[in-house]
Amino acid sequence: MADQLATLLLEERRFPPPAAFAARAIGTPALYHAAARDRLAFWEEQARALDWITPWTSVLTWSPPHARWFDGGRLNVAANCLDRHLTGARRNKAAIIWEGEPGDRRVYTYWALAREVGRAANALKRLGVVKGDRVAIYLPMIPEAAIAMLACARLGAVHSVVFGGFSAESLRDRINDATATVLITADGGYRRGQVLPLKRIADEAVAQCPSIEHVVVVRRRPAGEGDESFAEMTEGRDHWWHRLLDRESPDCPAEPMEAEDLLFILYTSGTTGQPKGIVHTTGGYLTQATATTRYVFDLREEDIFWCTADVGWITGHSYVVYGPLANGATVLMYEGAPDWPERDRFWKIVARHGVTIFYTAPTAIRAFMKWGTKHPAAHDLSTLRLLGTVGEPINPEAWMWYHEHIGRGACPIVDTWWQTETGGIMITALPGVTTTKPGSATTPFPGISVELVDTTGKALAKGGGFLTLTEPWPGMLRTIYGDDARYQATYWSRFPGRYFAGDGAKVDDDGYWWLLGRVDDVLNVAGHRIGTMEVESALVDHPDVAEAAVVGKAHDLKGQAIAAFVTVKEGVKPSAELREDLREHVARKIGAIAKPDDILFSADLPKTRSGKIMRRLLKDIAEGRALGDTTTLADPNVVARLKEQYEDKE
Ligand code: WTA
Repeated sequence: MADQLATLLLEERRFPPPAAFAARAIGTPALYHAAARDRLAFWEEQARALDWITPWTSVLTWSPPHARWFDGGRLNVAANCLDRHLTGARRNKAAIIWEGEPGDRRVYTYWALAREVGRAANALKRLGVVKGDRVAIYLPMIPEAAIAMLACARLGAVHSVVFGGFSAESLRDRINDATATVLITADGGYRRGQVLPLKRIADEAVAQCPSIEHVVVVRRRPAGEGDESFAEMTEGRDHWWHRLLDRESPDCPAEPMEAEDLLFILYTSGTTGQPKGIVHTTGGYLTQATATTRYVFDLREEDIFWCTADVGWITGHSYVVYGPLANGATVLMYEGAPDWPERDRFWKIVARHGVTIFYTAPTAIRAFMKWGTKHPAAHDLSTLRLLGTVGEPINPEAWMWYHEHIGRGACPIVDTWWQTETGGIMITALPGVTTTKPGSATTPFPGISVELVDTTGKALAKGGGFLTLTEPWPGMLRTIYGDDARYQATYWSRFPGRYFAGDGAKVDDDGYWWLLGRVDDVLNVAGHRIGTMEVESALVDHPDVAEAAVVGKAHDLKGQAIAAFVTVKEGVKPSAELREDLREHVARKIGAIAKPDDILFSADLPKTRSGKIMRRLLKDIAEGRALGDTTTLADPNVVARLKEQYEDKE
């Protein structure tokens, strides 16, 4: 962290908004002034951009750490994303332009999307889904993912989207935690030319999910091509999506929801082995998603907005589905990998559809850098006018590359800091207002109160410390599903009265925020959150493993890579095969994203005299640094031996 800080301090480049951009920008300095004058009035103003069935009677009720926003107000999220766009010219506007990885394409106008959502909602209703029921969604990036989410929202059912890369066990645990009654999945999804057999994985999960009554299966693969092997349908439980929708009417009334009714649960990794079900509600979440999409991305009627995130993550919820559609925008959605069939796939898509706003993760940008400038240079990217990043700190080199080679030096870049828990963007530039500095997320969005604190919780005006939020915000998580005590302990106890985000940060003399990564036991691998404890539990679940410790180590492309230190049981011989077997075991337990890059077998792990594993020292070893303070160790030789062993391996 110290090295990183030192490099960032040297960053002196400044990029004021291009004059032409600033001249017509939607977000202006007036927004900051309005929010500074009266934060709640500012958020009310944003909420007024939505269609409410009944207006709210109170803006905010705050009994820390529980917030209620827009109490008394009633609205429906799907009606805000669809119905209200059907009366004027937007009716025939593209809502979703989709490309499948194999090259198939579909376009849904707002009208067509609304009808499909209506049918899907009626189909769910016929399966017995009512307001408040939980529906799990395990789909590839196909339009049906958005349709399924909106259909749930229309009925007031709570969706829990599970990223398609997660394993059967991860899916099972998430379904069981939420006691979902319906699972929506697909026969498969395409990724680098392969079919990911989602239905087969789902079957394995559902076998241990007593709450599931129905499984709805979207046919993604061409009909007739070995259907049975990809989707064996269980009579009575399983239904083809297209057959269900075929017989339904497109008209389905939108359920009037209270502002604080649940909209969705989204599981994310924390510092224990058990992922947390982050709870988001209706009115506040949609208000922040809608306002941030509009101002941060300067969203206009004629834009084509491409956020490359999967709907399985919060970024896909807020900036592929809810934020853009509530604004009546045209969203581009792509199913597959950026390097399939070639490494120019993204740029081909930008050129073909005339994408104007592009929002992606630093990990992807670093991969593009490595692949070389010839790929973007081969395509016409001149329609792009604004770029964004999210998910991890962006190193200034990657920022500059993005600026020059994707943005032609002409597009502002918004580096947006936020979390699954915050629901929407919290720290970001406004593209027509803020002078950006490569590597800094710049300043809080209007109406967001961020403060840096030291280890004792004392507020700092600048320097290095921890990022905390001091006032409730509309899109904030309301609790952890089924575990309010954990909600309070995780977010509100480290610094009493403040929300602690888990991130380290630095604030410079201009009040700009530089995010320095997680300071807890959460890893950020290629922009995906993974708990060290989750990987450790998966490893010790293997019959040959006695103990495991997992740390993140700096990685050029992925930001962080997973390094595991493993002690095997008596009589087991460490081997290359066992190492591979362990990696596969973790993939089976959690998903391929959690596979450790390095596994080092070791006779012992460095522990304190009270038996606590010192991960800090393991991190020093994994990152090839001199060992930090070892005085509290029970046996300092253990760590010295490990360090030698690790270096020999290289
Ligand atoms: C990290 C993703 C630096 C951070 C929206 C946070 C970032 C975690 C940025 C949340 C950024 C997200 N700069 N770090 N612009 N954006 N992060 O829940 O560590 O998947 O706590 O939400 O990603 O990850 P999550």
